[in-house]
Amino acid sequence: MTDSLYSRLGGYDGIAMFATTLVGQAQKDELLGRFWTNRGEDRIDREVQLLIDYLVKETGGQMYYTGRDMALSHQGMGITEVDWSRFIEIVTSVAGELGVGPTEGGEVMDFLNSLKADIVTA
Ligand code: HEM
Repeated sequence: MTDSLYSRLGGYDGIAMFATTLVGQAQKDELLGRFWTNRGEDRIDREVQLLIDYLVKETGGQMYYTGRDMALSHQGMGITEVDWSRFIEIVTSVAGELGVGPTEGGEVMDFLNSLKADIVTA
């Protein structure tokens, strides 16, 4: 039996590193940074933790996700196709930096694509 994507991504620590780096890069990004302007550090920390919890659960780890679903969480943000493409570029570069292999990278992309219609609403 193949190990869960969760364990192949390095378990909790691997996913925590991935989520933290991803949100950090998105916040600094010229195009995507606007979604995180005027937010306090604590609020961002809580969001990162929810992202970690969500990814752990969805990839097969033991986690009870207490956040909202993807449609509700991103409703009204006006995330466009262009934003989404940039987000995917950042995911690809972070995955590369963290040494995520091509098989796991492909599974992450399939998973993200399955969420796109809920998140890209503009
Ligand atoms: C262009 C793409 C995306 C942008 C710009 C974006 C932006 C944001 C922002 C600004 C928040 C904070 C909302 C708040 O504080 O009220 C948020 C929450 C969240 N996002 Fe995203 N997001 C994107 C894609 C994704 C994807 C692909 C996932 C899942 C893999 C995700 C998972 C989450 C989670 C779990 C939360 C927290 C939900 C909650 O507060 O209950 N996001 N997102």
